[in-house]
Amino acid sequence: MPTRPHVIDQLISAKQIAARVEELAATISAHYADTDKLVVVGLLRGSFVFIADLVREIPLPVEVDFLEASSYGDSTESSREVRILKDLRAGIEGRDVLVVEDIVDTGFTLKHVMGLLQARNPRRLASCALLDKPSRREADVSATWIGFTIPDEFVVGYGIDFAQRNRNLPYIGKVRFTEEG
Ligand code: IMP
Ligand code: MG
Repeated sequence: MPTRPHVIDQLISAKQIAARVEELAATISAHYADTDKLVVVGLLRGSFVFIADLVREIPLPVEVDFLEASSYGDSTESSREVRILKDLRAGIEGRDVLVVEDIVDTGFTLKHVMGLLQARNPRRLASCALLDKPSRREADVSATWIGFTIPDEFVVGYGIDFAQRNRNLPYIGKVRFTEEG
């Protein structure tokens, strides 16, 4: 699908991301030090780069699983309706579960996913979001751990897309539209 003309301005460098991921992993590792095997659940597709970097900085036994919830489609507007497109492979009852999300925007996705997983009776359930856009929040939810709080900008890179593009940028950039669409 063609996108409106735009340019991408760097917002967070690869170096800044790496430093913050290291800090988050240290906090998370300390929190779960007594856990047999942590289940780290990545929300597809936006979290795939973040989760890959994060788990490699966590020196504990971890199991990695994925869940895909529907999101924007190819638009930049969120939808309130969240559907599960791909569920976890493993059960999580009695286990320590960490949900890894790329961005918490309106919060509908994270709220829905946390409710769904909580109903499966994990031992502890927490979440880690790389980015948080609190000014956009509509659902009453916040991530347990946050990488960066950002202003109301549409961002791409480090796994995050705009109409399925730019997931492979090594940094986080903001999309600036250059013409009226
Ligand atoms: P929420 O349900 O509105 O919190 O949206 C969460 C999902 O929307 C995120 O997991 C992203 O996939 C997507 N999203 C939110 N903001 C952005 C953005 O700035 N760029 C790209 N995707 C975004
Ligand atoms: Mg997402």
